[in-house]
Amino acid sequence: MTARVYVTRPIFDQGVERLKREVHVEVNSDERVLSKSELISHLREADGALTLLTDIINREVLDACPRLKVVANFAVGFNNVDIEAATERGVIVTNTPGVLTETTADFAWTLLMAAARRVVEADRFARAGKFKMWGPKMFLGHDVYGKTLGLIGLGRIGQAVARRASGFNMKVIFHDAEPIPEQVLQDLGVTPAPLEELLRISDFISVHVPLLAETKHLLSDRTFAMMKPTCVVVNTSRGPVVDEKALVRALKNGKIAAAALDVFEREPEIEPELFDIDNVVIAPHIASASHETRLKMCMMAAENLLASLKGNRPPNLVNPEVWGKRRS
Ligand code: GLV
Repeated sequence: MTARVYVTRPIFDQGVERLKREVHVEVNSDERVLSKSELISHLREADGALTLLTDIINREVLDACPRLKVVANFAVGFNNVDIEAATERGVIVTNTPGVLTETTADFAWTLLMAAARRVVEADRFARAGKFKMWGPKMFLGHDVYGKTLGLIGLGRIGQAVARRASGFNMKVIFHDAEPIPEQVLQDLGVTPAPLEELLRISDFISVHVPLLAETKHLLSDRTFAMMKPTCVVVNTSRGPVVDEKALVRALKNGKIAAAALDVFEREPEIEPELFDIDNVVIAPHIASASHETRLKMCMMAAENLLASLKGNRPPNLVNPEVWGKRRS
């Protein structure tokens, strides 16, 4: 019998066409996040789901959908899926690593530069017709070249951010819970540092860790207080890694100079106080949003889904422990 796949939001046509060659596909054509009960009602009859990071696939959803064998997430992050519950129930989970690394690193730099040089503030000023006269002290920002960049997390994306820093002649330090091979550190020219030291000496801090119990609110009142008052903080990882209310306090009290955020604690909700603060750049979770990369992510999710449904090990399996006990 042909397997049934549900796609939770409109994706690229190429992805749907690829799926249609092998399975029966239904796509939610509404540009909105489905509620839990809607998700369940669609996934109940499905063998596979192509999900987005906005779909919460928890125990309740997995229990209500006993036919579901694979959740192929259209994202590298998978904190929207309860991996433990999926593994217990024999459900394969896949993600889309690698293809978005460079694009996300480009965007972390976009945010870093925008915040350092106050591009968004200046744009708002110019659009409001306030540029009446050039001034020597107008929109003074912070130099980037030659400064110290602190990377919290040196995985694929952290490393790609580090590579870009050499063009700015920066000193790059990092903190990562996992050991990084010495050769990688040498090639990148980066130096490990204890977290507290990184917080104290960095001019720019960019966050590249997954959201885990240990990384929730890694940036908090306590850690902002350790930073330089001239520090610029960039977050393209996951919102809850930064305590958003503490960030508001840090910006308002001059504990740091500026911030640039692509992700938010209660996404898509944004802490309202951030809107009243000039020295914060706000983007709606678009770090991987280039035409090329989002299409690659889509095709990768489709291939993961199809491989899993054919009984093959998918290229990007998140929960390998599931392998011996897959739902049939
Ligand atoms: C985007 O945030 C992703 O995890 O792919």
